[in-house]
Amino acid sequence: MTRQPVPVLLNRKRHGEELSEDEIRDLVEGYVAGEVAHEQMAAFCMAVCCLGASESETVALTRAVIESGHRHDLSGLGRPAVDKHSTGGVGDKISLPLVPLVAACGVVVPQTAGRALGHTGGTLDKMESFSGWRAQLTPVEQARILHEVGGVISGQSDDLAPADRLMYALRDITGTVESVPLIVASVLGKKIAEGTQGLVLDVKVGSGAFMKTLDDGRELATALVRTATHFGVATSALLTDMSTPLGRTVGNALEVRESVEVLQGGGPEDVVELTLELAREMLRHAGVDVDPAARLADGSAYDVWRRMVAAQGGDPDQPLPTAPHTECVVADHDGYAVLDAWDVATVGRAAGTGRERKEDPVDPAAGVELLVAPGSWVRTGQAVVRIHSSSTARMEAALVAASALAATAPVPRAPAPVNRVLERIGPA
Ligand code: URA
Repeated sequence: MTRQPVPVLLNRKRHGEELSEDEIRDLVEGYVAGEVAHEQMAAFCMAVCCLGASESETVALTRAVIESGHRHDLSGLGRPAVDKHSTGGVGDKISLPLVPLVAACGVVVPQTAGRALGHTGGTLDKMESFSGWRAQLTPVEQARILHEVGGVISGQSDDLAPADRLMYALRDITGTVESVPLIVASVLGKKIAEGTQGLVLDVKVGSGAFMKTLDDGRELATALVRTATHFGVATSALLTDMSTPLGRTVGNALEVRESVEVLQGGGPEDVVELTLELAREMLRHAGVDVDPAARLADGSAYDVWRRMVAAQGGDPDQPLPTAPHTECVVADHDGYAVLDAWDVATVGRAAGTGRERKEDPVDPAAGVELLVAPGSWVRTGQAVVRIHSSSTARMEAALVAASALAATAPVPRAPAPVNRVLERIGPA
């Protein structure tokens, strides 16, 4: 069949017709080659956002994203390769302890990570708290580190799912990020192309997450698991609570310190629990029967972490940046501390943790430290959080935003659970 002009395809999609695998592949290929205009791809994304996509359209889109670049093959490493993807949350530093922990259990973890955008933090920004640490690796360097150390956290290379990079930038400025089929193709396009054989998805649910309700989280998790399974990748998803920040810190260097505490056998209970739960899922997909708690306790995960940081140009012993300005926020009434994830993220952003546009720098030392547990009883005047910032102007803005953190609730809200896993989706 001859290829139909793009406006005809778009018109058919707009009228609810299902596009074929070839049509979707041509559209994505044409976009990457510069033959399909940004306006045309934006119209397609908007049509998918408004009308949805069938399962076979979602699979076709995911395949087109994978095939837009190089699909890595990690089978030569002689060990199973398994990765984790989080949909993004507040204080979500889990990749930092998780990657070395799973690598210490004998599994290769080739993690492609992202940067902070919007209210969520970025794993690469956290790792860059180590001066000299490099996110961009050549394929040869990546393969060598995976072989020698077992774990890598790196940025998306130019040849990995380039269609996703282009489409994500377009979606970001056309209000078309929030669409389950587009998210599925974007997330899985990258993860499957990186060569992982197993995948665990941490789908966050709550005020600090992309998906605010359990039903929305379940819909995304189910679509991700079904689509990944279609590509032969052993996949499961954990729906996890993101109504309050994970752990006690939000901010790049602050979260690195907290992650190191976990790797040294301490750290907040919820971070430890979620790290272990995700590690168990990853090891299950890898078919490796090792207790990750033992690898945390015997220091082998911490040893892999140190080697990972050094292999990418960082010094694991270097002092991490600290902010010259710190201010505490106190409770304005007796009551229960709320510390809602979204509110904490807003204060952190004002202090400098994130970026408005993707070119903006982040302040590695900025952040928010929780001084009391969400849900705990506090007295008027008691300090509830400490804000860190490298700029007085930003500190002032953060203090203005912090009134939501000073407010308490007259009745108890459920305290943040130690085990944040709400539900698991995937094969038994
Ligand atoms: N994260 C991604 O990588 N892609 C999306 O579409 C949304 C979140």
